[in-house]
Amino acid sequence: TSLKQFNTFGIEALAEQYIKVEDELTLTSLYEAGHFNQPFFVLGGGSNVLFTKNYEGLIVHMCNKGKQHFIQNDKVFVTAEAGEVWNDLVWYCIEHDFPGMENMALIPGTVGASPIQNIGAYGQELMHIFYSCRAFDTQTGEFRTFNNAECEFSYRDSIFKKEFKGRFIICSVTYELALFGTINTSYGAIEAELNNRGITSPTIKDVAEVVSYIRVEKLPDPSTVGNAGSFFKNPIIPTAQFEELRKQFPTIVHYPINEDAEKLAAGWLIEECGWKGKRVGEVQVWKNQALVITNCGQATGNEIFQISSTIVDDVLNRFGVRLEREVNLL
Ligand code: FAD
Ligand code: EPU
Repeated sequence: TSLKQFNTFGIEALAEQYIKVEDELTLTSLYEAGHFNQPFFVLGGGSNVLFTKNYEGLIVHMCNKGKQHFIQNDKVFVTAEAGEVWNDLVWYCIEHDFPGMENMALIPGTVGASPIQNIGAYGQELMHIFYSCRAFDTQTGEFRTFNNAECEFSYRDSIFKKEFKGRFIICSVTYELALFGTINTSYGAIEAELNNRGITSPTIKDVAEVVSYIRVEKLPDPSTVGNAGSFFKNPIIPTAQFEELRKQFPTIVHYPINEDAEKLAAGWLIEECGWKGKRVGEVQVWKNQALVITNCGQATGNEIFQISSTIVDDVLNRFGVRLEREVNLL
């Protein structure tokens, strides 16, 4: 099966075996038939993966659909199946006037992948609205529920990227939203665009629209330009190291994490190394956002990987900071 339609980089790669999963029972059947004893990979929207070669194993494509909610006092619990498109769920909540997801409008991908890297954008992170998820254990064939603490969320990380990497298949996720939650416009770009539009008391719909507008301005649309969003994570470094760097690079873009650590804008580091907008063969660093690597059309996954390695080396040589990839390599 060709995976080209199933990854937003638009990379041509073949899967030895492929199955589209539309209900949980299929997972139990796959388990009973011994399919999880071989290499397998769970795929959602393919918006955070890079295929560097053909996949020798089983691709398990999560396509189960459904969403519902129930209201309890001043809270609403929204549950969606793994194959639901994340942005559709965001707009479901906006239409029902459930606040909490609007800052994360237009993040590509599925509900099932949302806890994996604790998606986040524009001042909100999944961990602040995640209640629980139901997951299939491919080692035991049983279903298990994870609550928020058990997922060990942190910036672009969770237990599903650490000790449970590749073991659990998330079937559905429940989000807990405060019905009378406050609107968060603290992110500079949101505030500026709301001002631009003369909106003084924004609704959650206003926030989602403004966030979507900012995203479209800055990020390439995967339906026309292959990419997987930020290719790297923003590095978090000790405050002492940061202070040394700032002496040398006074304009370095950074965000305080706590007394001991600072987060750096990887996009700034990459731009400073001269990569913004740069094209090598079929691979181009995005002109409006140096953290995004794009496929000009005919790139192979391996070419993209090679360029990303050169970027890692350049940033390391210049700043002494090693970038880590956000994109999942296969
Ligand atoms: P996939 O790419 O299919 O998979 C990603 C990982 O999750 C893989 O390791 C896969 O095995 C695993 N996985 C997927 N589904 C399941 C499941 N049901 N059970 C178990 N494991 C699973 N991310 C952000 O956080 N913030 C952003 O602002 C953001 N902006 C982006 C902008 C663009 C233009 C693009 C292309 C990507 C962006 N991303 C962003 C990255 C991406 O949207 C997220 O990582 C998203 O959660 C990926 O979802 P997916 O369904 O496409 O996952
Ligand atoms: N910057 C540059 N040059 C660039 C890009 C950025 O100098 O080419 C500097 C600018 O100072 C800019 C700052 O970096 O103000 C931050 O840039 P931006 O607001 O675009 O955010 P980011 O830190 O690059 C992160 C997430 C995005 C998320 C945005 C908005 C990571 C790895 N990326 O990007 O998530 O949408 O914040 O919250 O944390 C993704 O994960 O795929 C993704 C797109």
